[in-house]
Amino acid sequence: MMGSKQIHLIGAGSLGLQAADILLAAGQQGEILAYDDNTSLHSSELLPGVFIQGGIDLVGKLDPGSMVAIAIADTAVRQRIYSNLRQKGYKFPNVVHPAAVISKFAHIGFGNIIFPGVVIDPAATVGNFVVLNKNSSVGHNAILEDFITITPNCTLTCPVDSGVFIGMGARLLPGSRVGENSIIGAGAVVNKPIPANVIAIGVPAKIKEKGMIK
Ligand SMILES: CC(C)(COP(=O)(O)OP(=O)(O)OC[C@H]1O[C@@H](n2cnc3c(N)ncnc32)[C@H](O)[C@@H]1OP(=O)(O)O)[C@@H](O)C(=O)NCCC(=O)NCCS
Repeated sequence: MMGSKQIHLIGAGSLGLQAADILLAAGQQGEILAYDDNTSLHSSELLPGVFIQGGIDLVGKLDPGSMVAIAIADTAVRQRIYSNLRQKGYKFPNVVHPAAVISKFAHIGFGNIIFPGVVIDPAATVGNFVVLNKNSSVGHNAILEDFITITPNCTLTCPVDSGVFIGMGARLLPGSRVGENSIIGAGAVVNKPIPANVIAIGVPAKIKEKGMIK
């Protein structure tokens, strides 16, 4: 349940739109102020009553204790924005839709955005600044590190290292793992460990030729 305090939302693209919607669904009563570097969006409304104030640099000028949510799907950009703000004394709440089911025995960090239909099992771990999109499930043996983007309808039952992007409908079987900053293609079935910094696709998932991420 969100509160009456103002919240500053970084990102007014599709993830920002959805995060604003989740905040409102979760009972946010304080103002939601959005920020985006796309100047064509400035002064427009993201959702009724949610105005785009200006560029992301404005967020760095807020008072300590301000509540900030980072709704940027690109894992590296999300990470960079946080590292610029981490010393400012801000609070990074979890933005959780009321239709997500999170076990009280799951371990959840901060700054996460959790969509409707997400299920997180007891003993599962979700780090910080993870985006868990709709209808994805996090099994009891999953350990998600930080700055991960999980798109809709994924099934996760293994460790996932920081900075990973998982395409729609991917399934990560027990005993596998996804290494740092790798990308798993939509529909992939991961049944063995995938190293860091690669793109893996298919059933079963294989490293895509010329798929190394710089
Ligand atoms: C895996 C992915 C990142 C690869 O992107 P890319 O490097 O730009 O790859 P390309 O589109 O150039 O495709 C290269 C080849 O891989 C194939 N391919 C791409 N994605 C694939 C996938 N998910 N599964 C199987 N094959 C795939 C293409 O058909 C193409 O094959 P070809 O060389 O025989 O023609 C991307 O296709 C993907 O799956 N992204 C996830 C998208 C998503 O889920 N977004 C979430 C929105 S909420």
